[in-house]
Amino acid sequence: MTKNLKTEQSLDNPDWNSMRELGKKMVDDVVNFLQTLDSQPVWKEIPQETKTFLQSDLPKKSGDLHEIYAEFLQHIFPYSKRNIHPRYFSWVQGNGTLTGAFADFLASAMNSNVAMGEHSAMYVENEVLNWCKEIMGYPQGASGILLSGGSIANITGLIVARNSHGSLDVRKNGLRKISAPMVFYCSSETHACMQKAAEAMGLGTDGVRKVPVDDAKKIRIDMLEKMIESDKAKNFIPFAIVGNAGTVNTGAIDDLQKISEICKKYNLWFHVDGAYGALAKITDEYAEKMRGIELADSIAFDFHKWFYINYEVGCLLVRDAKKHRDSFVIEPNYLLAHERGLAAGPDSFNNFGMELSRGFKALKIWMSLKENGIEKYKNMIEQNIAQARYLAELVRNRDELELMSDVQLSIVCYRFNFGEHSAEELNVINKELLMRLQERGIAAPSYTMLGGNYVIRACITNHRTKKSDLELLVKKSVEIGREILLS
Ligand SMILES: Cc1ncc(COP(=O)(O)O)c(C=O)c1O
Repeated sequence: MTKNLKTEQSLDNPDWNSMRELGKKMVDDVVNFLQTLDSQPVWKEIPQETKTFLQSDLPKKSGDLHEIYAEFLQHIFPYSKRNIHPRYFSWVQGNGTLTGAFADFLASAMNSNVAMGEHSAMYVENEVLNWCKEIMGYPQGASGILLSGGSIANITGLIVARNSHGSLDVRKNGLRKISAPMVFYCSSETHACMQKAAEAMGLGTDGVRKVPVDDAKKIRIDMLEKMIESDKAKNFIPFAIVGNAGTVNTGAIDDLQKISEICKKYNLWFHVDGAYGALAKITDEYAEKMRGIELADSIAFDFHKWFYINYEVGCLLVRDAKKHRDSFVIEPNYLLAHERGLAAGPDSFNNFGMELSRGFKALKIWMSLKENGIEKYKNMIEQNIAQARYLAELVRNRDELELMSDVQLSIVCYRFNFGEHSAEELNVINKELLMRLQERGIAAPSYTMLGGNYVIRACITNHRTKKSDLELLVKKSVEIGREILLS
């Protein structure tokens, strides 16, 4: 039966004043929490009561937002991942800022769909992309797009690489008309998203050639060339090399200049995975170490990691805007640009990636960069690098701890190693140590395996960390390690 339109409704709460008050309370609660973060545990176990609460039935009737917010405060807010905490050092994760949260609120209130059209968000994203080009040393004629993160930025770059290769016209023909498998190269330390990308692009797991690394975990250039030659001899089709500007395990930076030369020699696309490290290029030291990044055909990097922007936002830049656009452009009748009105405006972002509907991710970067300026970010990144070196020094100074790799960028890998223990026993001890550090809410480093050894891995991409946080991490690592030996 057709709905009676005598009493039309909307989802807006008609009591605007009550909503205004609730919004103010939310801001107060968040600011109070951030102000007292340091004295809070870095991680809290989720009680069974909350897990049960979060398995309730589909709500059928309207609820009261004040009560729903109280439920959020009781069951959701306290048990977050807490990567906002000064002693959070897990994986490669940023903190976000209050400014970023405000910007996300404003962007969400605007609720712009930033696919196409003549509206402010399109211009803000293009302005932010122009800033990105300047940061990476790219020409202003390059293209770019903000995406959900490094994984998607990497696959988007690789799709452009694959589609632009030679005269294969993979976009039109697909892979089925190609006589031999297409392959790309990266070091064995490269992030797993590259393998996912190869699988999703129809290249298969074997489409990624994992090149061995040297002692510093950098791609072995001699092996890279040998593998390309060998593949070519077998009639495989090499199309790209991925260089790392900061590997996920240890922060290793490949020789980007050499990779660029090899790409030129073999006519391959040069893509850089800078999800973790590329933004460290704004520091003098790493501008030097990452020399060659500006030569890349495409660069993927993350703002939500080492630029402390709130989740989620990554970026892809492509040197040749035409190749980028040719890989994704699609203009069905209902998306054709008009000369005037709402459907005018800058080129559609849908022509530069897979997504059509997109949120206003650019606002938080735009506001944060205007608030802090690039100089402040440079200082923050340099501070994290210095903190990582300080942590390594603290580790070296303790007989009970062993530094497990050179410090590159802001990653420190160490383990507890005191007394006589087999490698197996040390792995068990260190895993237990890590879990106790987290369960007691002291600090939250993560872990990885280096040469078969379980190591505790602290990645400092954290604008709230202080020296005292690192001193506590080391002190407690020793205490808990000794405690494990006694138990
Ligand atoms: C080097 C590197 N590449 C890619 C990624 C994937 O990025 P995202 O988690 O933003 O998808 C990560 C994540 O940590 C990373 O460290």
